[in-house]
Amino acid sequence: MSRKILLVDDEAGLRRNFRALIEDAGYTVREASNGAEGLSAYLSEQPDLVMTDMRMQSAKDGLRLVAAIREHDDAVPIIVVSGSGTLHDAIDAIRLGAWDYLVKPVQLGEELLIAIERNFERARLLRENRLYREKLEEMVSERTASLLASQRENQELQARLMQTQKLESLGRLAGGIAHDFNNLVTIMHAGTSELRAALAGAHADSIAMVEDALEQAVDLIRQIFVFAGRGSQAAVSCNLSDLIGGMEKLLRSAVTASIDLQLTLGTVPAIAGDPTQLRQVVMNLVLNAAQAMSHGGKIWIGVDARRLGPGPSDFAFLTGPVRSGEYVVLVVEDSGSGMDQETVRRLGDPFFTTKADGHGLGLTTVIGIVRGLGGALGIDSAVGRGTRVLAAFPTSPVPQEVPSPPRSILERPRGPNSAH
Ligand SMILES: Nc1ncnc2c1ncn2[C@@H]1O[C@H](COP(=O)(O)OP(=O)(O)OP(=O)(O)O)[C@@H](O)[C@H]1O
Ligand SMILES: [Mg+2]
Repeated sequence: MSRKILLVDDEAGLRRNFRALIEDAGYTVREASNGAEGLSAYLSEQPDLVMTDMRMQSAKDGLRLVAAIREHDDAVPIIVVSGSGTLHDAIDAIRLGAWDYLVKPVQLGEELLIAIERNFERARLLRENRLYREKLEEMVSERTASLLASQRENQELQARLMQTQKLESLGRLAGGIAHDFNNLVTIMHAGTSELRAALAGAHADSIAMVEDALEQAVDLIRQIFVFAGRGSQAAVSCNLSDLIGGMEKLLRSAVTASIDLQLTLGTVPAIAGDPTQLRQVVMNLVLNAAQAMSHGGKIWIGVDARRLGPGPSDFAFLTGPVRSGEYVVLVVEDSGSGMDQETVRRLGDPFFTTKADGHGLGLTTVIGIVRGLGGALGIDSAVGRGTRVLAAFPTSPVPQEVPSPPRSILERPRGPNSAH
């Protein structure tokens, strides 16, 4: 389609001449004989270029038209043609938004057509420039948004990593202490047995008291090993759905009657774990869910098999990025109070609790157990929306670089030489 030029001039003869010339050059022409007509033709026709006389019925009619058109569009080329050719007129026209200024009588032919082409070219460059700028701005804002998002993600990952490292070093420290303590208790236990034999029934009460205290110390060591992720002393092949199915009665008695407890236990492959510890995980998570609902609500326990990986997830993983693999996943979902960001951030810190009678050790223990089995623990929670906790256990466990706890005391040694 040929480009459209609006020609505004009060002299009909001049319009005719210009028109013939312009049409010969392949453009379409619309005509108007004064500023008002010119503006309405501009609005209805949307020409590609406007060429206007400067002085029509009134002295500045052409200039007013330039200003009016510029209010609508700053990218349409406008050429002003003047009979007087004073510098003043030229400045006025350009200041109001004309792109070009020609003096009558325009050397009909060359000069006019060159001016028209020059202005079309300028309009094209302007359009391209704008498109380029818009595209650039779009790209910049997309890039900025993605940079901000990855920066946020990075910060979250770093915070998680620090938390994981903190827990790991705490675990190592606790594990080390428990190990040495275990050796001492082993010696004390052996010594007590020898004393009992040597005393042949004398001081039986005192010896029983010492043995009782040693029993408690063993329990404590066991717990610390669990926290340190080294407690899987009895890892056997377990089916999590069967294990939880067997706990159903116990779980129902652990939550109040106003809580609707539902279980969806899918058919899942076996995992390697210590059944006592796995029950501890379930019990801790269910108790936390129940304690988040002072006026009753719903707890849903689900078990299924899934493939997980380190990619984005609804869950914030307290155990660091998830290793790709097949897992048996336990989800405990509650309709309780939910947690704010700050609480979620502190989860797993030993002794962090918001409860008057809490110890803040439930999740720390759960994390220790899950990590000890090469699994992952994730939280998805928001205030007023409730909480979902995901504990994932690998179906084909990755060999862990975690030494198992010393066995001596946990297996009841018979002599002092069995200490590590
Ligand atoms: N399902 C949940 N809904 C809301 N808040 C929770 C949930 N689970 C954990 N929390 C928050 O996390 C905190 C730490 O939980 P954690 O189980 O480690 O300790 P605790 O329950 O306070 O004490 P305990 O050692 O007796 O388990 C809780 O005090 C609570 O604020
Ligand atoms: Mg708890």
